[in-house]
Amino acid sequence: MAYLNQNYLKLRAGYLFPEIARRVKTFCDAHPEPAQRLIRCGIGDVTEPLPSAVRTAMHAAVDELGTRETFRGYGPEQGYEFLRHAIAENDYRARGIAIDNDEIFVSDGSKCDCGSILDILGDNNRIAVMDPVYPVYVDTNVMAGHTGEANASGAYDGLLYLPCTEANGFVADVPTEIADVIYLCFPNNPTGSVATRAQLEAWVAYALKHGSLLLFDAAYEAYISDPEIPHSIYEIPGAKECAIEFRSFSKNGGFTGTRCAFTVVPKALQGRTKSGDTHPLHPLWNRRMSTKFNGVPYIVQRGAEALYSEQGRTEVQALLSHYMGNAALLRQAALDVGLSVWGGINAPYLWVRTPPQTSSWQMFDRLLHETNVVITPGSGFGSAGEGYFRISAFNSRQAVEEVASRLRAMAW
Ligand code: MLT
Repeated sequence: MAYLNQNYLKLRAGYLFPEIARRVKTFCDAHPEPAQRLIRCGIGDVTEPLPSAVRTAMHAAVDELGTRETFRGYGPEQGYEFLRHAIAENDYRARGIAIDNDEIFVSDGSKCDCGSILDILGDNNRIAVMDPVYPVYVDTNVMAGHTGEANASGAYDGLLYLPCTEANGFVADVPTEIADVIYLCFPNNPTGSVATRAQLEAWVAYALKHGSLLLFDAAYEAYISDPEIPHSIYEIPGAKECAIEFRSFSKNGGFTGTRCAFTVVPKALQGRTKSGDTHPLHPLWNRRMSTKFNGVPYIVQRGAEALYSEQGRTEVQALLSHYMGNAALLRQAALDVGLSVWGGINAPYLWVRTPPQTSSWQMFDRLLHETNVVITPGSGFGSAGEGYFRISAFNSRQAVEEVASRLRAMAW
């Protein structure tokens, strides 16, 4: 019998979203009538159709693959040059950030990349995460054996948790302890908080001072409407020496099912060996992608490229306005019933404090049973999330209006 990776046995229950799905299924099986009116505001999955610019580009790409002359087999593992160029040019150089095309690695998702990045990092790093935290950062480190066991509140021994609270506006303060690798996510999932330029400057200064690596997840950057808030960590001088950035087409272009994202690994970024030598991370990630990945399908990459066309941009703006319109309606409804709400302004998530003496999972159950609305319990994102719940604004307008009216009708 083969030995297994025992680190998996340390993982707490299921991954949060499958666990929610399991509980919702149990409810639906037992209550077929209310199940008919179930509205899901749990997982942040897009609902609106793919932009027509994307579909047109994908249709054309399908046709290209239909003739011998234009057929393509394996593509470059790092992504086609046309997409790497469109990303570097539009998301970075047009905004005054000098990123080369070959510093962009196209992938099938930021979730995957946030996990896979551990392939090129050592096992002896002190890892820091914000709490509450997108569970992928934690669970992938548990799987890789970078932690001990979880305690009663779900925190893993060996990880440095940076509390994000009402007091710090759900933006982690730079710690006094030294961490080698720090996961930052802004706009934040789950709290919807954003980091100011000054806060990001403090993180970059910390990383440069201590030789730390920032893993900056900017999957929701398109939702930033405040012109003062940076969209990229590379807007901060020095960040190319200390940060990897993860971006995705999932939430701006509606690609959660279509799958396309990218990771920026600057060539200036260095890591160290145990013997103290330094070595750039870029060739390691390139090697990792070449070995373990065969690239995103050509059709999908052509679709992603179309998001940068004039029509694509207009359609993306319409999607963003739609979801942020939803966020405003949900925010108002939650405020109207007396709840304390954060987020939902520069991010598609609302972070809501549960009523007194109500735990996150109790709130989940109450909303499921009394309103047939699915939310995400804050404690699923870490112990600092206890006493909160997350409402996702990814939905149709009709569903959101219905959720708003059910929230107002509920006895709080
Ligand atoms: C979420 O609901 O937190 C997101 O859908 C997670 C993800 O994008 O993987």
